[in-house]
This record gives sequence, C-alpha cells and structure tokens, in this order.
Amino acid sequence: MRPRLIVTRQIPAAVAVRIGAEFDCPWPEGRDMDAEEMLRQLAATKADALMISSHMKFTGEVIGRIPDHVRIAATCSVGFEHMDVAAARARGLPVTNTPDVLTECTADLTLMLILTACRRAHEYDAIMRAGWRRGFGLGEMLGTRVWGKRLGIVGMGRIGQAVARRARGFGMDIRYTDQQRMRPEIEQGATFIPDLHALLPECDVLTLHAPGAPDGRPLMNADAFARLPKGAVFVNAARGVLVDEEALLAALRSGHLAAAGLDVFRNEPAFDRRFAELPNVFLTPHMASATVETRTAMGMRALDNIAAVLAGRPPIDPLWI
Ligand code: DGY
Repeated sequence: MRPRLIVTRQIPAAVAVRIGAEFDCPWPEGRDMDAEEMLRQLAATKADALMISSHMKFTGEVIGRIPDHVRIAATCSVGFEHMDVAAARARGLPVTNTPDVLTECTADLTLMLILTACRRAHEYDAIMRAGWRRGFGLGEMLGTRVWGKRLGIVGMGRIGQAVARRARGFGMDIRYTDQQRMRPEIEQGATFIPDLHALLPECDVLTLHAPGAPDGRPLMNADAFARLPKGAVFVNAARGVLVDEEALLAALRSGHLAAAGLDVFRNEPAFDRRFAELPNVFLTPHMASATVETRTAMGMRALDNIAAVLAGRPPIDPLWI
C-alpha cells in the first residue's frame, strides 16, 4: 500500500505528478486548507505524512491534535517561524523545511527590489501606462545610482551571500552584520560590522536577510531607520516582522528614505495598503521563491524529506534532532 499524504496548499504541476505517482493523496495537486480542515483530513484519511507551507500556523495546540499515525510534517518553505518546533519535538513529530533550493531566486528578487526601488521603476511604469506624452527634463524624475553605492546586508547566511555575489556584479561596496564574521572566501572583500546600529549609517542601500524574531520584535524601528543616511533605500524580502511598519511609512513619507522595495509584510496577505499609496515603494506579494523551477524544487525537497522518514531514514532537513 502506498503512503497516505495530505497537502494543504496548491502546488506546482510537477510536484503533483510525483505525489500522484508515489502517494495516496486525495488532492495530489494540493488544496488550500486551514488548520481545522487539515486535522479533519489527516484523521479521515489516516494520513502518514503532511505537507504544509508558511500559510499554516502550525502551533503547539495544532501539533497536539495531530493524530499519531502522522509520522512527519514537512513545510514547503525555508522559513519555519509558523511552526512550533519545540512542540513538535516534545510530541516526537519530525518537522522539516526546504533550505538551499530557494536561495538563488530569493537573491534575484532582492536585486530586483534594489534596482526597482533605486531606479523608480514603479513611477516609470505608471507614467508609461498613463500614456507618456511629455519628455522629461534632464533634472526630472531622477533615481539613485546603484553602481558604487554601499550595500548593507543584515544576515550573511545563504541568501545574504547570494545577494552579495550579485551586488558585486553591480559594483556595490558590501558591508554586513551577522552574529559572527564570515570566512574570507565568503566575505570576498565585504566589510564585517558586528553591530547593526554601527552598520546603518554606513549604508546607501540596506537589505534584510534574517529570520523573524518569534516575539515579532522589529529589528528596524524608528531609531534604526533614523540611523540610515538621508536618501537611503530600504529592501526587505526576508520577513515582515523584522520591520516596524509605522516607522518605515514615516521614514518614506518624510523623505528620510528615498525609496523601498518590499516583498514581505507584517500582515500577509492583508498588508498595510498605505504602502501602496507611496510612489517611492515597489511592492511584490511575498514572491521571492515564485519561479517554476524553485517552487518545484521546494516541493520535491519536501517530498524527499517525507519519503526519507516514511522509509525509516532520518529526514534530510530536520528542524530538530
Ligand atoms: C520561505 O520559504 O520561507 C518563503 O518566505 C515562503 O514562505
């Protein structure tokens, strides 16, 4: 008999094909469901495994109600703030994520946000769509040059490093902060500044690549934004909870920040629509990993974790050991 699987979110076609071939799954293409529906489906199908994504709040309470026949819960995301890993561990439920496979696409989107924010892409696009009919003077509608600028990276993990590799190609001068200094072959000439508050005045562009604090405390508050130089550009493709959005809105409105590129928000999908009223903000709906290749690779990685555990092997990407 094939293992039984519940998938709580719509997934790419190739992943659905593999699920159809390897598992008994009522909706191999995935179906958006909330926690209650998921718990009902797990019990009704006597599922062996569960595949979720970051939309599912996998709290201690939910984990406590997962039936014993479920042997693994794999999230199709690198972030796992939505999962109570300690509760999963206490319950003996293996939980896994999908690191590595989305690094390059997330870095691509970060560069997109840096470029679109610096070069006023939202405003230029709006002008064209409104039927551009007046040539601009040489001093009008000017953006910020990226080449030669100082890029600050908060969090020099896999994604931060991939952003640094790309930014070097755009002639940016890189400085970063992290819990510890990277090896020289990773730094590639980037300057390590151990303290965030010391890094901020040194950045023309700042990009976040850190996980969100479980208590939701923002790294970037009014004081932190004030430490950036006037005219700096702020980019976030990491987690919305890293930012005090009132402080960001104020910094953008006052002109202290020239622009921002944002892929993530405190409330998703019900993001604060005041950001959409600002012409100097380029917005994307949490889509950093959203390419066919990467979303497929994430789904496959989640299935690899599930297959390993169901075959009695250790998970590839365990969140607890
Ligand atoms: C991730 O994989 O963590 C992305 O942010 C999608 O949630």
